[in-house]
Amino acid sequence: MDKFRIIGGKRLEGRVLISGAKNAALPAMAAALLTPERIALRNVPRVRDIATMRSLLEELGVDSSVAHEDHGNRIEIEARRLLNPLAPYELVKQMRASVLVLGPLLARFGNAQVSLPGGCAIGARPINLHIQGLEKLGAKIRIEHGYVHAETTGLKGALFAFDTISVTGTENLMMAATLAEGETVLENAAREPEVVDLASLLNKMGASVGGAGTETIRIRGVTSLHSATHEIIPDRIEAATFAVAAAITRGCLLIERAEPSHLSAVIAKLSEAGARFTPSTPTTEESGHSSLRVEGTPSLRPADVTTSEYPGFPTDLQAQYMALMTQAEGSSVITETIFENRYLHALELMRMGADIRVEGRHATVRGRTRLTGAKVQASDLRASASLVLAGLAADGETLVDRVYHIDRGYERIEEKLSRLGASIRRISED
Ligand code: EPU
Repeated sequence: MDKFRIIGGKRLEGRVLISGAKNAALPAMAAALLTPERIALRNVPRVRDIATMRSLLEELGVDSSVAHEDHGNRIEIEARRLLNPLAPYELVKQMRASVLVLGPLLARFGNAQVSLPGGCAIGARPINLHIQGLEKLGAKIRIEHGYVHAETTGLKGALFAFDTISVTGTENLMMAATLAEGETVLENAAREPEVVDLASLLNKMGASVGGAGTETIRIRGVTSLHSATHEIIPDRIEAATFAVAAAITRGCLLIERAEPSHLSAVIAKLSEAGARFTPSTPTTEESGHSSLRVEGTPSLRPADVTTSEYPGFPTDLQAQYMALMTQAEGSSVITETIFENRYLHALELMRMGADIRVEGRHATVRGRTRLTGAKVQASDLRASASLVLAGLAADGETLVDRVYHIDRGYERIEEKLSRLGASIRRISED
């Protein structure tokens, strides 16, 4: 298992290019199952979850090809036929987003068997809302031997109100509804930019999806969808992670190909903590893409934060923000409202010298503490990013174990950080 060896204390400076959003690319790949024609996706990040989704498509009998482009990969998927409507446990347990194939398989082929994902390091993460919503569209669903077995002779549009906002739940139902008969209305839908990006792809494929980005999404079903080419939006969580890297090392970064409008809550909170942001005009090379300049301050201020659904402060940045708050001059309270168990990184940060008290959904971080390098272990994707950030600010050597978690969602983070002046190296152990 690979590790990162980090020597802390270096100020980061320079330009970093943000990759395409993993959480937009995954549903886009699943959406390709809705048509026999070719879907070409550009700016797909080179991360492990994307490879896992390709393996899942292959398992279903669907061809895909990858080409290296200047920025990100181009993935082409052609779901002419389906050999097998089954998403096996072995793949679903590696990546919960595998459940995104459920809606498209059911809508196009009338049949899907998807393993239930089981437990997860950050919370229970059930998929009851995906199931209830598909039942509302007329699917017959039973759970047997750990699998969701879903069938239909034709989905019918319906009204479905989510009682909890769910990102992949909204995406699954939105995809299923594109091929249902009549109109579907999704209420209390997720408003994340990744949901909007998926709607935009579906509309390019000939679907009729309106209201994505608001809490009510209306989908008018069509009989078939067709080929499309789509560029995936920039990864707002990767951009935000680099903004925290600038703040925690008191550095100065130009974050290129970021979309500032997707980062409003993050920019507001990091500014409260003392970081300075300036939008930057695109250079010729990156024309058409926005950038963001962020500058750290020698004296970070504590700022309480509560995670919430978009447009609120993302749960996917909570762990990284906690690392930052260990370096603020005073106490801050972090409240996690999306996942009930997303504080495993706190214990590892404490091993590096952080003063954190976790009580239920609240974590009180007392700063500023001197962080010292230690051997730490990543428990999930964002927790690993938090430990890397802490390592950049710590005295001495930090060894982050189980970096396969970070490889799931960050494209070559150690190379991007090294180019900015960080001392970080991957140690491969077979
Ligand atoms: N929930 C239910 N029932 C459901 C679905 C969700 O109770 O059927 C609950 C969850 O347990 C959770 C809340 O609703 O408490 C929100 O979960 P959501 O369904 O929105 O999460 P998700 O769709 O499984 C996506 C991202 C996550 C991100 C969350 C929240 C993808 C592929 N994953 O997960 O990303 O944390 O939304 O924003 O889009 C990550 O990238 O590190 C990551 C975990």
